[in-house]
Amino acid sequence: MLLSPTDTHYFIAYFFELAGDNTRNGTFKSDFPYQPSYIRNPFSRIRNQLPTRLPYLRGMNAKKVSDSINHMNELVLPNDTNTFGNLMGGRLMYWMDIAAAYCASKHCNTPVVTASVDNISFKNPIKLGHYVHIEAKVTRAFNTSMEIHLKVWGEDTLHQFKYESNEAYFTFVSLDPNDRPRTVPEVIPETEAEKELYDGALRRRQLRLILGGKMKPDDATELKALFNGKG
Ligand SMILES: CC(C)(COP(=O)(O)OP(=O)(O)OC[C@H]1O[C@@H](n2cnc3c(N)ncnc32)[C@H](O)[C@@H]1OP(=O)(O)O)[C@@H](O)C(=O)NCCC(=O)NCCS
Repeated sequence: MLLSPTDTHYFIAYFFELAGDNTRNGTFKSDFPYQPSYIRNPFSRIRNQLPTRLPYLRGMNAKKVSDSINHMNELVLPNDTNTFGNLMGGRLMYWMDIAAAYCASKHCNTPVVTASVDNISFKNPIKLGHYVHIEAKVTRAFNTSMEIHLKVWGEDTLHQFKYESNEAYFTFVSLDPNDRPRTVPEVIPETEAEKELYDGALRRRQLRLILGGKMKPDDATELKALFNGKG
């Protein structure tokens, strides 16, 4: 029987999987599609069995905002537009969701799901042939959820101008291997703008949880303080 190079790779990988050898990590990382999770990360077996909602996990690997910031670029093609030749809102929200999911997943290194999207208003339409720039950054992590701030610009590269299109906040929840919410690492804001977004995140969270029927208005202490002039 003749083995192709791919078959041979699978055979070698299977052998090392049985042997539990993680010293081959470097070899497999770049050029090989199959990588058991405990070869990528020897601690994953232990980590996946830990209770995943314990607060002690939060501070363990706190991360900076810049560690997971995501800049995504797209070109508006005919299939992305409405009958006015502008980018369709639904297509933009789809791209925003992907940009935000990447940022959230990079912050907590787990699968994530979109829990909610705050209101999105479109300031300026983005035209066919223009480029779309989406910036997604985590503003604050709570227990198992994170708030992601998105900013969107359009760019006309022919006439060399860039314009703001919209801004939104998405909330993502980190999931454990049983698809249950899992504790997320804390966020360390560094710049003034990051600190401002961090400070406002608790109020935005309480507002969206009230609107989503997940919190009683009486429990929204941050919002109350704001309206009572103490915030
Ligand atoms: C989001 C989801 C995982 C929450 O699960 P749940 O069983 O309600 O769990 P909990 O009530 O413990 O909430 C978990 C976290 O989600 C947050 N959350 C739940 N609903 C929310 C909402 N409407 N807005 C913002 N955050 C919300 C909670 O505040 C909590 O965060 P915290 O731990 O930081 O306080 C679950 O509702 C779900 O899977 N929804 C579907 C997600 C989906 O399909 N998205 C689109 C495709 S990716």
